[in-house]
Amino acid sequence: MKRPSSLSVFVALSITTVRLVRAAVYQSIDQLPEKASYDFIIVGGGGAGGTLAGRLSENPKFNVLLIEAGPDNEGREDLAIPSQNLAVQAESEYIWNWWTVPQIGVNNRSIEYKSGHVLGGGTSINGMVYTRGATDDYDLWGKFAKDKSWSWKGLAPYVKKHEKFVQPPGDRNISGQYDPRVHGYKGPVGVSLPWSSPIEFDTRVMKNAELQDEFDFNLDPNSGRPIGVTWTQFTIGGGERSSSATGFLGADVRKRPNLTILVNTYAKRVVETIGPTIGLRKDIRTVEIVQRSGEGPSRRVTARKEVILTAGAIGSSKLLLDSGIGDKTELEAVGVKSVADIKDVGKGLTDHYTASISWNANGTDPVVNTTEALDLWRKDRIGPYAEPTGPRHQILWSRLPKDSQLLKDYKDPSAGPNAPHFEITLSGGGSTVFAFVVLLTPYSHGSVRINSTDPFSPPLIDLAFLTHPFDRAALIEGVRQTKRFYSGLAWDGYLTGFNGPDPDADTSPAGQEEFWDKIKADMNSFFHPCGTAAISPKGSGIGRGEGVVDNVLKVKTVKGLRVADAAVIPYVPTGHSQAAVYTLAERAADLIKEEWA
Ligand SMILES: Cc1cc2nc3c(=O)[nH]c(=O)nc-3n(C[C@H](O)[C@H](O)[C@H](O)COP(=O)(O)OP(=O)(O)OC[C@H]3O[C@@H](n4cnc5c(N)ncnc54)[C@H](O)[C@@H]3O)c2cc1C
Ligand SMILES: *[C@@H]1O[C@H](CO)[C@@H](O)[C@H](O)[C@H]1NC(C)=O
Ligand SMILES: *[C@@H]1O[C@H](CO)[C@@H](O)[C@H](O)[C@H]1NC(C)=O
Ligand SMILES: *[C@@H]1O[C@H](CO)[C@@H](O)[C@H](O)[C@H]1NC(C)=O
Ligand SMILES: *[C@@H]1O[C@H](CO)[C@@H](O)[C@H](O)[C@H]1NC(C)=O
Ligand SMILES: *[C@@H]1O[C@H](CO)[C@@H](O)[C@H](O)[C@H]1NC(C)=O
Ligand SMILES: *[C@@H]1O[C@H](CO)[C@@H](O)[C@H](O)[C@H]1NC(C)=O
Repeated sequence: MKRPSSLSVFVALSITTVRLVRAAVYQSIDQLPEKASYDFIIVGGGGAGGTLAGRLSENPKFNVLLIEAGPDNEGREDLAIPSQNLAVQAESEYIWNWWTVPQIGVNNRSIEYKSGHVLGGGTSINGMVYTRGATDDYDLWGKFAKDKSWSWKGLAPYVKKHEKFVQPPGDRNISGQYDPRVHGYKGPVGVSLPWSSPIEFDTRVMKNAELQDEFDFNLDPNSGRPIGVTWTQFTIGGGERSSSATGFLGADVRKRPNLTILVNTYAKRVVETIGPTIGLRKDIRTVEIVQRSGEGPSRRVTARKEVILTAGAIGSSKLLLDSGIGDKTELEAVGVKSVADIKDVGKGLTDHYTASISWNANGTDPVVNTTEALDLWRKDRIGPYAEPTGPRHQILWSRLPKDSQLLKDYKDPSAGPNAPHFEITLSGGGSTVFAFVVLLTPYSHGSVRINSTDPFSPPLIDLAFLTHPFDRAALIEGVRQTKRFYSGLAWDGYLTGFNGPDPDADTSPAGQEEFWDKIKADMNSFFHPCGTAAISPKGSGIGRGEGVVDNVLKVKTVKGLRVADAAVIPYVPTGHSQAAVYTLAERAADLIKEEWA
């Protein structure tokens, strides 16, 4: 972990005596000036928090403090190199050490629940896949909020605002692989197609989409209509990972005199602000913070205007619960004093989960000389290190067939006909073809709970994987669909055999049990948690199913507190979640700016 130089500590201490706040990135809580005051305190510097800090501090009249538990992203090459995505996701300094509770649906396995713990949050460590999901997903926000400004049309100015679509380095011809009309070109977050040119495998994918009626090519997954075979876009700009931290909190922004970034600092809870209050609502503008290690004294900082929680779907709901905001009966049972009896806090967790299947194939696995690849990246930001490790060029987004019995037996869980039920990653070229079959529309809802009064004790995360019969049946259909995709003529001479797990290999009860055992043994999350502090209509109640924040993201029944991250998204969108989070945070920034203009 970076330590502040003695000079910077000296400077920080010497300015505590003046009320002036200098622009700063403080590496530790004791550098934060004692008497500084802030208009806004943003808790959690991830996808949404980085965006909000950048946008709110554009207004020189606002003084903004951003608090992040993890380290600074700056000066860390591993976070900048796209191919290091899996490595940084395994780096304990950059992730929370969170595990799910035993998952009944997958033979009681506890699953490591990765989540970013560094400035930029998930966007600093994620797989960089850039997908917005479907228009129907956003229209669902509008329905939940009874407010059309949260629909796809209402959000149109925000959907592209964060994005800077760029040519991948090396100037290959990308025409025909995306739709220029659906992209943003002026935002701070770089988005591009992969650096490398299509390989023979990709040509077969395209050929197959042409040959098979069931699957069609779709020029761009980000038009709001993702269904079909699409080329994959990534949050990579100029060959480097682009995150909320690199995009919204770069060198120029860090120079702003009214922005303070405090890293390596843990927010324990939000508490009632002492002082004259107007009206009956509790005024929650104070945050209790301490060194990330938990050592040393806790301090309280109060926002003049608002505290905005952006600690992520897990972090924000946990913070609310630790603060006594949540189901009163459940909180009192663990000894936490109730502050606001909002029943839905931590409920409604939805996420994507995936089964992995593979084929043997007649190709040669590429060998990457890592020394050469690193040199190439350092020199020109090109080569294998300029791309993520894992599924790369194409994705198939699909729905259950219209006549599927499943859609007769259960109400369609998707937000609408534009929203796919499945994401099937297409990757191959060597001796294996590998697919993640992702269920994008699970019926199973989980929860985030706490079982201690100690804010440092880990949250109880329950994804409720495969606990609903629809989810099990749908996942089998997703595997079958993938099998159909790889049965086309385009694969002749390349695919040599299915490795399974195969639901059709043995249809006896014992055979089916064997299939499920294999699926359950390595079923994993795609780490897109949403829905733990859901948006809801203005004036709605605080009972079960009634949501946590109102249509302008204010926590119900209290004052001074908003939540503005993936937690408020009522249901996980049918795409990887960062684009939706950027869109939400951009809108939240404008709502807040308007209110305090
Ligand atoms: C391994 C992994 C791979 C992913 N791959 C993709 C992908 O390829 N494409 C995609 O679109 N999405 C992907 N995602 C999801 C995406 O990154 C998230 O949806 C997005 O980052 C959520 O933004 P957020 O602001 O809600 O939360 P986060 O980005 O998680 O930010 C929350 C921040 O708050 C901080 N925090 C939490 N609690 C506290 C506290 N008590 N005090 C102080 N700070 C706190 C955290 O350290 C973190 O920095 C992936 C996520 C993971 C974990
Ligand atoms: C922002 O910074 C400028 C320059 O330091 C200062 O004059 C101004 O008072 C600050 N604004 C707030 C709201 O603190
Ligand atoms: C999982 O745990 C539950 C509750 O502890 C138990 O009833 C069940 O038998 C377990 N299932 C397996 C497959 O071990
Ligand atoms: C780029 O590719 C498109 C579509 O494949 C093609 O029509 C176009 O001529 C190419 N442009 C150049 C400059 O090669
Ligand atoms: C990788 O490339 C370097 C530099 O060209 C070379 O010295 C080294 O032998 C190569 N390593 C392997 C394993 O091929
Ligand atoms: C809280 O839950 C965790 C994980 O399930 C468990 O290890 C711990 O003992 C629990 N603590 C209490 C106080 O129940
Ligand atoms: C494997 O590929 C080679 C060359 O592309 C081809 O000659 C051979 O027939 C293929 N083998 C199978 C089993 O398809």
